[in-house]
Amino acid sequence: MASSTSQTSTWWQGAVGYEVYVRSFADSNGDGVGDLAGITERLDYLSWLGVDAVWITPFYPSPGHDHGYDVSDYCEVAPRHGTLADFDALVGAAHRRGLRVMVDIVPNHTSSEHRWFAAARRDPDGEHRSRYLWRDPAPDGGPPNNWRSHFGGPAWTLDEASGQYWCHLFLPEQPDLNWRSEAVRDDFDKILKWWIDRGVDGFRVDVAHGLIKDADWRDNPQIAPLTEGMDPRAAFNAFEHLHDLNQPDNDDIFRRWHRLCAPHQAMLLGEVNPPGPERMSGYVSPGALDRAFFLRLAMLRWEPRRLLEMARAMHDAAPQGISWVMSNHDQPRPVSRFGGGTAGVRRSLAMSTLMMALGGTPFLYQGEELGLDDGVLRGGGYDPVTVRNVGATSGRDGCRTPMPWDSSPHNGFSAAQPWIDAHPRRAGQTVAAQRDDPESPLHCFRSLLAARRQHPDMWRAPLEWIDARDPQVTALRRGSITVVANLSESRTDVALGSPGWQPVFESRSGSRLDGPACDAVSVPAETSVVLVNDQR
Ligand code: GLC
Repeated sequence: MASSTSQTSTWWQGAVGYEVYVRSFADSNGDGVGDLAGITERLDYLSWLGVDAVWITPFYPSPGHDHGYDVSDYCEVAPRHGTLADFDALVGAAHRRGLRVMVDIVPNHTSSEHRWFAAARRDPDGEHRSRYLWRDPAPDGGPPNNWRSHFGGPAWTLDEASGQYWCHLFLPEQPDLNWRSEAVRDDFDKILKWWIDRGVDGFRVDVAHGLIKDADWRDNPQIAPLTEGMDPRAAFNAFEHLHDLNQPDNDDIFRRWHRLCAPHQAMLLGEVNPPGPERMSGYVSPGALDRAFFLRLAMLRWEPRRLLEMARAMHDAAPQGISWVMSNHDQPRPVSRFGGGTAGVRRSLAMSTLMMALGGTPFLYQGEELGLDDGVLRGGGYDPVTVRNVGATSGRDGCRTPMPWDSSPHNGFSAAQPWIDAHPRRAGQTVAAQRDDPESPLHCFRSLLAARRQHPDMWRAPLEWIDARDPQVTALRRGSITVVANLSESRTDVALGSPGWQPVFESRSGSRLDGPACDAVSVPAETSVVLVNDQR
């Protein structure tokens, strides 16, 4: 059993986070792009919803080839998103409301326009060269090995001037840093410290599983054929990523950062994609990452059995180490993945309820609380996955359309045409309408978060799994709390083993319940319930 939870308490124990995709959350100055001041204006909404922390996606200067994940200066704010003064104002306003602020740190790669890469390219003999990953061509003149970019094509681009290739697990404009370089390690220590001194409460670590690469640059084993016009994600998954991802030495970097962050109570939350639960427990072992996202639940379609099996296995491997997520800015929204319409909303609420009882630090992604499905674009794509790969199906624009605040033009996101051109959302999908409707997904999430806060056993007490006799049903007990997630298509009855259980939350009704105390519960199809027993 591995978990990063120690005896000392940290702010993220019991906390629920909220991901803000900065470009699409709130635009305060009417240029069509979301900004930091826009987030500040909406903090009261986040407090009302009941989350504890906000993670803001990259707002640093960037040429924007990957919408901010190609950083050209780690210690500045891009003019399109505001100023450092706006950032300070945001942190101050959040802290006054008891909200924590996390920033996104992108250490696997810089932008090709970062001054380090410009210098490395300009002078192959200079000190900056070894900050990146350069290799001579293979004997046939092609790329040095068979590694693939997540965004299509080889993970290597030839620098004609020096005759060497640079490595990039994403776009050529996102050259990978060499994490065996002490200069890189020192510089990132300084970057983390710089943001800590500005008052941030933690870091979401982008591509944390990719930092160190195989020292011998070995080929990855190929497990499926590559075909012409294949989707980049499928092409990437045609290889077993033995040598480019999840290398054991990665954890040394997080141990170093942990020593730096822990004294300031700054949380380290990794974006990782480990091959299985065992590797995950290593990432969140004591003294390494505080939490890691488990992304599989944010990728699967409606496969109740697999969803439950995976959640259970991952919980058992790292009981308090996971940041559970059903969605983020890279995946289709759960409502769409789970069948769309009312069924999609119902199913995603049932899963979210279970997720809130699995310990760790769960995160919502903006709009998830509204039961949003994917937005529909009016024009072409924006994501480099779509723009650079004809016919790609794994583009990420659908989950990045503007947050629908109300029914005014552009759904109240901006006074101008938003950077991403999508069909407006229906009135019923907006914050304004859902606040007035006690049966809405928004009120359902708010009640769920309130129940979690009111009954800390829900995340804190030791977890026991209760045998529910159906692989599409999961039941768990944590002290005075029982949660039953019935993902099957029929009602199920679960015996609770003792009298006195009071239902307090049901995902389908979206409200807090006041039913009679009982010793068994009958749970409708595709619904989760939370019960409390004050005698325990
Ligand atoms: C992460 C981000 C994604 C980005 C990629 C490269 O997976 O979540 O949006 O494209 O890293 O930085």
